[in-house]
Formats: sequence, structure tokens, C-alpha cells
Amino acid sequence: MKAIIIPEHGGVEVLRYDSDYPTPSPEKGEVLIKVSATGLNRVDTFVRMGYPGIEITLPHIPGGDIAGTVAEIGSGVEGVEIGSRVMVYSLLTCGECIFCLEGKRNLCLNWECIGMQKKGGYAEYAVAPAENIIPLPDSVSFEDAAACSIAGLTAYHGIKTVGELQNGQSFFIWGGSGGLGTLAIQIAKHLGATVYTTGSSDEKVEIMRNLGADHAFNRLTQDVPAEIRKTAPIGLDLIMDYVGPETFTTSWELLKKGGTMLLCGILTGRETNLNIQFTYLRHLSIKGLNLGTMDELKELLDLVADGTLKPYIGERFPLEEAAEAQKMMEENRHIGKIILKP
Ligand SMILES: NC(=O)c1ccc[n+]([C@@H]2O[C@H](COP(=O)([O-])OP(=O)(O)OC[C@H]3O[C@@H](n4cnc5c(N)ncnc54)[C@H](OP(=O)(O)O)[C@@H]3O)[C@@H](O)[C@H]2O)c1
Repeated sequence: MKAIIIPEHGGVEVLRYDSDYPTPSPEKGEVLIKVSATGLNRVDTFVRMGYPGIEITLPHIPGGDIAGTVAEIGSGVEGVEIGSRVMVYSLLTCGECIFCLEGKRNLCLNWECIGMQKKGGYAEYAVAPAENIIPLPDSVSFEDAAACSIAGLTAYHGIKTVGELQNGQSFFIWGGSGGLGTLAIQIAKHLGATVYTTGSSDEKVEIMRNLGADHAFNRLTQDVPAEIRKTAPIGLDLIMDYVGPETFTTSWELLKKGGTMLLCGILTGRETNLNIQFTYLRHLSIKGLNLGTMDELKELLDLVADGTLKPYIGERFPLEEAAEAQKMMEENRHIGKIILKP
């Protein structure tokens, strides 16, 4: 099969296209999926470079956003038909730890993720546990499904479940122009919030406004905190910050008293400074999150199926051009989601 291999960690130049990689066979409880669309995620670039604290077995096939058709069924799998349209929930859980036993599988102590610890979807075929596949409604395209499974799920879980964003509250995200951000804007609007966001060009700002952002700013030409303060003088209720040290302090100072910061990424580094006194005097909270639950992914899919949310697919690349696609992402030249087509 066709596949993109990471033989060693490094820059985009290490990504190797192989037109004759062995097609995997589904083991007990697994299905083989013929991939129709794979979404690119920032995490793929971290996996390629070597993800801090997470062991990636090389050679590796990246990619956790997988949508396609079931091509083969492993032993013991019931209720799945060859040829059915599916997407993959990429989080693998042990089913045995205290969190799994309490039904909180997304907090699993022994979690793994397809595309990280397990080989993923930058390929013509990929395997996944049958319990991780979700049937696709006819109205949801493979591309839209692939756009949702990691970035969309994280935005949905973060904003709705962890951040508990309420109708009438304010929400801010840096990079509303990216894969996660373009869905975060729509999810926050759907929940009734006033949405603030940023992008790095006027074209991106225009697109974010069209997606529903009430206040979108060009972070390279505008003073973002000053612009936000014009309409939110006492600050914002909920901020999702995946950028890290470059934006953390600004985000923290933009929170309203009692506000909440959601952390879910390390785009510019892993550590930052926190003013403890500012934090307790202003009753601020930080909540971390990683992905979300399979039920939340199904809820998100329903919102896409009924047209409430529309993933923004900005770029499509053939599989063999994955290195160019990752380069575009690392240089922030893309808008919305980048899709690879095997
Ligand atoms: N924890 C989880 O479960 C989880 C799941 C999914 C994603 N994530 C994280 O979420 C982040 C976004 O992922 P993604 O796949 O949506 O990536 P993406 O499509 O590349 O979007 C990221 C956006 O961030 C903006 N940005 C880059 N550097 C910035 C800076 N210094 N200041 C402000 N904005 C900046 C860029 O937009 P502009 O250039 O237009 O500003 C870029 O498009 C990543 O850090 C990823 O690892 C975490």
C-alpha cells in the first residue's frame, strides 16, 4: 500500500513516501479501513520531531484523523460490515485502570493514540479497534469527518464539557484560523457565546468572521489585548490557549475575574510563568484537556450531519505530498484543516 513513513525523528525532510509498504492485517477485534481522507494535525509535526515524554516506535506512520470504508474485519468483530463508511475515534484505552472502570475512559492511565504510539492514517489502509469506529451518516463527507476527529473533538470537549461555556459568555482563542480554531469558533457560537479570535493575515480574519467570530483580529498587525479590551473591559469568561509561553501571560491577563483558561497545546514551548498572586486575587482557573470522549465525538458528528457545524477544509494534498502539507502547517500558511488524500 501507499504510506508515509517516519524512519527517524527530524524535520519534514525525514518523511518518506513508500508506494509498496506492507498492508496491515486486522488482528482480533480490529478492522482494516481503506482510508479516503486523513486530517493533518499539529501533533503530527511533534510526532515527526519526537514528542516530549511520549515514546514513538520507529519506523512510524503518523495520522490520527482517519475516515474511510471498512475493507476487512478481524476475528471476533460483530456488527460491522465490509464497505461501510466510518471514521475512527483515535484514543485507545486499557479498559482496566481506575478511570476506565469508572467510565472515564478519556482519562485512562495507559492511553495511547492512533498516529502517536500506534501507526496511523497517512496511508492507503489503517487498522483500528472495531470499538473505536463510528458509522458515518450519509450527509457527512469523509473529509469533514477527518476534520473532526482530533481537532474538532478537542474543541468540543474543551469548550462545552471542560469549559462549560454558557449562552451569553465570552470566549477567546488564538489561531481561530487553524484546524481546531475554525471549529472552536463555530462550537462557541453554537453555544451562544461572543467569540474573539486571531489569525495572521487579513484574509484569515475575513474567513473567521464568516465562520461566525464576532471579533477577529490580525495578530501580526493589531494590538490584540487592546482591541479586546475595547468591547470586554473587565475581561473574558473562557480562553482556550494552545499556543503556550508566547501567549499565556497575555491570555491570563485577559481573563475576567473568576474566568477559566483551557490549556491543550504546546505550540511555542512547554513551560511558562504564572503570577500566583494575580491568580488567587482574581479567582482564576486553569483546566488542561486532551481529546474527549467517543460519545462527544458522536455528538459533534451529529452537529456536522445536521449542518449546525461545517468543518473548514482549506487545503487538500495527495498523500505523497505530506511533507509539503506539514511544511505549510508549520509555517502557518494554511487556513482551517489540511486533508491528505491517499
Ligand atoms: N490536547 C489535545 O487533545 C489536542 C488536540 C488537538 C490539537 N491540539 C493542539 O492544538 C493546537 C492547534 O492544533 P491544530 O491542528 O488546529 O493546528 P493548526 O491548524 O496549525 O492551528 C494552529 C494555529 O495557531 C496559530 N498560531 C501559530 N503560532 C502562533 C502564535 N505564536 N501566536 C498565536 N497564534 C499562533 C496559527 O494561526 P495564525 O498564523 O493564523 O495566527 C495556526 O494556524 C496545537 O498546539 C495542537 O497540538 C491539542
